[in-house]
Amino acid sequence: MKRIALAGVFALLLVVVGCGRKGTESTPSQAQRKWTIGMSQCNLGEPWRVQMNEDIKQAAAQHADEIEVIYKDAQNKTEVQQAQVREFIQMGVDLIIISPKEARPLTKPVAEAYQKGIPVIVLDRKVEGDQYTCFIGADNVKIGREAGKYLVQVLGGKGKVVELKGLMTSTPGQERHQGFLEGIAGSQVEIIFDADCQWLEPIAQREMQSALARFPQIEAVYAHNDPSAHGAYLAARQEGKGREKSIRFIGIDALPHEGVRYVKEGILTATFEYPTGGKEAIETALKILKGEQVPKNLTLGTRIFTKENVEQGGEPIP
Ligand code: FRU
Repeated sequence: MKRIALAGVFALLLVVVGCGRKGTESTPSQAQRKWTIGMSQCNLGEPWRVQMNEDIKQAAAQHADEIEVIYKDAQNKTEVQQAQVREFIQMGVDLIIISPKEARPLTKPVAEAYQKGIPVIVLDRKVEGDQYTCFIGADNVKIGREAGKYLVQVLGGKGKVVELKGLMTSTPGQERHQGFLEGIAGSQVEIIFDADCQWLEPIAQREMQSALARFPQIEAVYAHNDPSAHGAYLAARQEGKGREKSIRFIGIDALPHEGVRYVKEGILTATFEYPTGGKEAIETALKILKGEQVPKNLTLGTRIFTKENVEQGGEPIP
């Protein structure tokens, strides 16, 4: 009897040490299974997303003995991204990180993974509902509101503005618009032209050409990201009337080699930082995998860069 019991305990020990997920109990000398994280990036055609993957890679490299990240690029196609999440489920990854292209169509695949017990971290753009483990991103309503308030201030409370929106089926587009309306409320700053530029510089450039052709007075452009603000600037410069010098261009993202550089060069009047959350995603993933509690929402901060503060690294917005 005793022998059987001992054998049982021994067998149990083997299971715990040998097959268990990477546990704190096991010693480093044992061959350990790494956790696999599947990362679905909505596209890698935009510099900000390349930076997000880079931030994830750097953070993951600090934990190379514990995790391995498999990267997939959905090439800005919703159906491809839906399939990628389902592929990760099939593969049996330990955790999924997704930066979704659009909210509604990605909600279901994310919920499928979550319901199957695979933790999902949603990064930067949201999905609908609450069938995910943790959302990480900056407060886009706040960023939009700050952009609105800033424009009211630089325009002296009054002026005609073009709004070049991001993809309006994605939450940052919706929230940056809503926040901006709050920021200009009660002023005489007025949106005279707006367009969904899908976050893309060439579309923003084309839309701005139409705006310039229709409206002789445009005092400012509020673009939902820096590539769009830059596209608008190029359109104004190409028009050849010098309007790029009088129009104020405001963007969002503030990558060092993009928006921040444009501010230094005098192309943009201001840009607001939109952190990628890559590092926080890996830190949160590790906590989840180790069984620690994480918040449902992790809100990242932002900063404003103008010519006055750009050399000091911008100014945090409380
Ligand atoms: C990149 C991007 C950023 C923007 C973010 C919003 O795809 O368009 O420029 O801030 O996505 O999700």
